Amino acid sequence: MAARRDLSNPLPRRGLAAALTTLLLSTATAATDGIPDPLPGTAPGDVERGRAIVANRQLGLCLLCHSGPIPEEPFQGNLAPDLTGAGERSTAAQLRLRIVDPGRINPATIMPAYYKTEGLSHVAPQYRGKTILTAQQVEDVVAYLQTLRTLFAQPPQPTPPAGPSKEKP
Ligand code: HEC
Repeated sequence: MAARRDLSNPLPRRGLAAALTTLLLSTATAATDGIPDPLPGTAPGDVERGRAIVANRQLGLCLLCHSGPIPEEPFQGNLAPDLTGAGERSTAAQLRLRIVDPGRINPATIMPAYYKTEGLSHVAPQYRGKTILTAQQVEDVVAYLQTLRTLFAQPPQPTPPAGPSKEKP
């Protein structure tokens, strides 16, 4: 049995393990790393404009699925995580990818790809080749999402008085 691999020799296995680790790391990076650079031809994102896009029922439609710290909009969605804290949970690069093409983070997502024209199905003729948001609007939304931090969204909780704990008064 000359072809049989000598499993007592650790070297080939270490090589395989290293190759597998590299493969796993590279696929994970490709899928979730995000888009580090601002989209081409854009100015720095504007937080106020981004907030207006997220709140807008025709443009962003984010509140169809998400809720968020936008108290003037009474009806907000519960199909997706609350956007409060989104700026802590994800980097700008991850947020950009999430808005541009969420299917690259979660292939089964119901969230629309806001800046993608390739590979979409069921697109009405008048919208073919067009993105939902412009590149600048994507940058504005990313800038706004980065400001959403729980640290500022929640008022500081009062410290309970020291002493014997009374669970139920
Ligand atoms: C049709 C429903 C839908 C719409 C519309 C939608 N999303 Fe989402 N979004 C989701 C779902 C569901 C998730 C949870 C992760 C997943 O399934 O991909 C998500 C995840 C996210 C996340 C990451 C989760 C977090 O909060 O940390 C962000 C950020 C986000 N969406 C932002 C937006 C913004 C901004 C808009 C509007 C421009 C938007 N979404 C529009 C459904 C939606």
